[in-house]
Amino acid sequence: MKTIMSRLLHSQSSLPRLYTMAVSRNGRLLSTDSNNVDEPFKVEEAETVDVPPPPTEKLLVLGGNGFVGSHVCREALDRGVFVSSISRSGRSSLHDSWANSVVWHQGDLLSPDSWKDALNGVTAVISCVGGFGSNAHMYKINGTANINAIRAAAEQGVKRFVYISAADFGLASYLLKGYYEGKKAAETELLIKFPYGGVIFRPGFIHGTRRVGSMKLPLGVIGAPLEMILQHAKPLNQIPLIGPLFTPPVSVTKVAKVAVRAATDPVFPPGIIDVYGILRYSQQKTA
Ligand SMILES: NC(=O)c1ccc[n+]([C@@H]2O[C@H](COP(=O)([O-])OP(=O)(O)OC[C@H]3O[C@@H](n4cnc5c(N)ncnc54)[C@H](OP(=O)(O)O)[C@@H]3O)[C@@H](O)[C@H]2O)c1
Repeated sequence: MKTIMSRLLHSQSSLPRLYTMAVSRNGRLLSTDSNNVDEPFKVEEAETVDVPPPPTEKLLVLGGNGFVGSHVCREALDRGVFVSSISRSGRSSLHDSWANSVVWHQGDLLSPDSWKDALNGVTAVISCVGGFGSNAHMYKINGTANINAIRAAAEQGVKRFVYISAADFGLASYLLKGYYEGKKAAETELLIKFPYGGVIFRPGFIHGTRRVGSMKLPLGVIGAPLEMILQHAKPLNQIPLIGPLFTPPVSVTKVAKVAVRAATDPVFPPGIIDVYGILRYSQQKTA
């Protein structure tokens, strides 16, 4: 017995020091030394890096022929992702060459039978479907249509779902009751159905070149300088009642870049991202 005990003690003292290791996405080793009892347990924060998505990603863009949706499609194609889209008019009036690389489905999100097959094999969805009109119409397009898509995607086992919602402009939002109530209903559904892979974007005004028929509207002429000034004036945004009016605009290319990353990067945090978050993520370098 004495010999066994002495062997055990000996073998314990000769054990190498125990290490707990974690490997962050960029390959850095994070270690905690369990022998170091004097220091409190410290975990180095893992740095996330915007790495290109694996080629197996299959992205479905809802509203891929719209202003935001078309930029999302282009960004995803640039990053080597397979892209398909659903909208009521399908490819619509897009004549750019990149549009040839998208698989266009025609379907109305309010009639799920018209598009459910488009979800086959899809790994991530970005919804850019929304619109204005009467309160009832706004609730249907921003709320019901997206809720249908979120439910169908969850049933099909889609991993990640990004929803382009909108910043609440406080008092001004009251005039667009159906729009905001629809957005909030879709947000709630997303948080329930995609607790680990659901990301909600809440941008204010999105600027860039918007096509209206054959015309191109350069919204960036106003949006870009305002974005530059207001992104550094965050305290103004906290002023009661009028604060939300100082929400900085954000460019459509930034929204698209961060949305594609949120849809394809498995460590992108789920939850709500406001315009300051979109601006911050858009500054991170692409690997
Ligand atoms: N633009 C901004 O400044 C801004 C700011 C904050 C938030 N947002 C939000 O960002 C999203 C995209 O905005 P956007 O400016 O790109 O809008 P948009 O150009 O009007 O695009 C809307 C897209 O939704 C599709 N769509 C509408 N109803 C549909 C339905 N029932 N079924 C399938 N597709 C449908 C449209 O295509 P079809 O007509 O062919 O169906 C179109 O592709 C919206 O949710 C909007 O509320 C925009």
